Amino acid sequence: MLTRPLGRTGLKVSEIGFGAASFWGHPAFPEAEAQALVHRALELGVTLFDTGPAYSRGRAEPRLGRALSGRDIRGLVIATKVGTRFEGGRVRRDMSLSAIEASLEESLRRLGLDVLPLVHLHGPAAEELTPDFIGGLQRLRGKGLFQSLGVNSFDPAVIEAALALPQIDTVMVDINVLRPERVVLAGRAAAAGKGVLAGMPLAMGHTAPSAWRNLGIRDAWYLARALKTHRADMVAGRRFRFLHGRPDITGAQAALAWTLGVPGVSSAIIGTTRLAHLEDGAAASGLALPPDLAAGIATAQALS
Ligand SMILES: NC(=O)c1ccc[n+]([C@@H]2O[C@H](COP(=O)([O-])OP(=O)(O)OC[C@H]3O[C@@H](n4cnc5c(N)ncnc54)[C@H](OP(=O)(O)O)[C@@H]3O)[C@@H](O)[C@H]2O)c1
Repeated sequence: MLTRPLGRTGLKVSEIGFGAASFWGHPAFPEAEAQALVHRALELGVTLFDTGPAYSRGRAEPRLGRALSGRDIRGLVIATKVGTRFEGGRVRRDMSLSAIEASLEESLRRLGLDVLPLVHLHGPAAEELTPDFIGGLQRLRGKGLFQSLGVNSFDPAVIEAALALPQIDTVMVDINVLRPERVVLAGRAAAAGKGVLAGMPLAMGHTAPSAWRNLGIRDAWYLARALKTHRADMVAGRRFRFLHGRPDITGAQAALAWTLGVPGVSSAIIGTTRLAHLEDGAAASGLALPPDLAAGIATAQALS
């Protein structure tokens, strides 16, 4: 597994990161299988683990803490979020500094850490990134609660606002073959000295031809999520079916190679509940995207 520097944070991250979220953290996904994935990720050289207190109905972050408990976590970049939590059956948003401080302390406890290596504001509004707010976050950093600070948003205006702030170290954006417009944004972020992390690098699996063929509980869950929030991606993904079924590179590896080829990207954070998929994705580190696939992707993107 190759590593890359994460902007100017001084951190290095594996090219493939592990997303401790979604169905991985869901109570219906067995704890033993979830933990086995984290342990295999560690064996494969994954050093970046991304989670959040609101993920998987609040179950993902404590599950990641349990999976990492007793392991050698030196050198790992364990990233979490602030600004959202799961409470009363739904995700609640609270960007107040008091809520963020409480959230940081809870995350430290759940993850079994003394300091959080990396924390992202989870979907802030651009107008919330005021000097007072950023100053307050700096005070929390000064208390030793976290080291690096980022912004996770899929809204380009929010990312643009973050680029102007020297206190923001990283941005986490959805970067995948369905989002070619992110190439410019990632480049601008990197030029501003920010570490760039790619979330949803597999476009949630929407390019895969067989995604819903054998509907088990996890695939039904993925399908329900897609129908609820990502119908357009399900349709757009069909244009990228050609990525799959080749002898030299799997479809997921091709998608990851494209994302890792976006200038500025430090790591592609995948979500998976299958060991074979984790191993397949991890093997994408260092892979070059075959030129004919690169050309095919560019053509399919131009049609979007
Ligand atoms: N989604 C968001 O809104 C969001 C927001 C912020 C940050 N992030 C970060 O990004 C991470 C990844 O996002 P994501 O899970 O939503 O999307 P993703 O990684 O783009 O796609 C996950 C989907 O791809 C499938 N998959 C994984 N590896 C595969 C392989 N090698 N071959 C074929 N299919 C494969 C997974 O199914 P299997 O389980 O069957 O492998 C799952 O259905 C999150 O865990 C989180 O850390 C996401």
